[in-house]
Amino acid sequence: MTEKTQELINKILKLKKEKRAIILAHNYQRPEIQDIADYIGDSIELSRKAMEEKEAEIILFSAVDFMAESAAILNPEKKVLLPSKGARCPMAQMLPVEQVRIWKEKYPNMPVVLYVNTLAEAKAECDVCCTSANAVQIIKALDAETVLFGPDHNLAWHVQKETGKHIIPIPERGFCPTHMLFQKEDIEILKNEHPNAVVAVHPECMPEVQQIADFVGSTSQMCRFAKNSEAKEIIIATEIGLLHRLRKENPNKTFIPAYADAVCPNMKLNTLERLYLALKNEQHAASVPKAIAEKARRALENMFTLLSH
Ligand code: 13P
Ligand code: SF4
Repeated sequence: MTEKTQELINKILKLKKEKRAIILAHNYQRPEIQDIADYIGDSIELSRKAMEEKEAEIILFSAVDFMAESAAILNPEKKVLLPSKGARCPMAQMLPVEQVRIWKEKYPNMPVVLYVNTLAEAKAECDVCCTSANAVQIIKALDAETVLFGPDHNLAWHVQKETGKHIIPIPERGFCPTHMLFQKEDIEILKNEHPNAVVAVHPECMPEVQQIADFVGSTSQMCRFAKNSEAKEIIIATEIGLLHRLRKENPNKTFIPAYADAVCPNMKLNTLERLYLALKNEQHAASVPKAIAEKARRALENMFTLLSH
């Protein structure tokens, strides 16, 4: 680590203490951010952490817009700061609220489940939210055989396969540009090169990629799988940021990226410098208009309620 980086880290940690702040970081954040975070996790874990956080006055949420927005919705009395204003998940932009309303008109009385990777206005129009860690559990818990589900059509495919229910994806082909980079052929080549390796993939990957995996789950579920697996070599199909955590937690195992350039440019907009500036100037606060926040909060709380049954 350079002297400059260490200085920056010291300044962030000092400010954090002075301002009674906590740093939450998603599993895709840069290694140096993961290393100074108070908590690292997948989207459901970070939402829970934000909701349970009692001490801190500021939550510095190193991730993308929809995650910080959800934290602000669940924690209206706290200041939730996003290090980089432009860190927006493109998948969340694929389902504007107007589209949700059109689909609801087309299929009245059908439950609408939205992935947390959506904007607050879209969440406000749905019945319940889900994350990649619990989408299957949420759909199973609903008293309905057909469900409108968006915006990721690959996750919709996964949920339909696991639940046997009829899932109507909204929009028809919402996707994560980063996870669409994974190709079945690349993984097959890696499997030939490492015959003892197992394959863990995120459900945002294409169905043909999911079908050759030994495990499909959220980023933190992939961490648990890696820890518990007997395998010494694991091929990973998700954003490369997760590899830092996997390697740190499992120094005796080898992690092989299924595609080494699978970078989420939005997640990577957050840098130590930007964390420092956000905290120093208390800038880029996530804010959601009250009426929308109240409705979106209900959808997020419905998720927690269904999970507790
Ligand atoms: P996780 O909830 O699995 O961390 O996924 C969030 C995400 O944005 C995946 O691309
Ligand atoms: Fe959005 Fe994909 Fe980036 Fe996750 S990895 S934040 S789904 S663009």
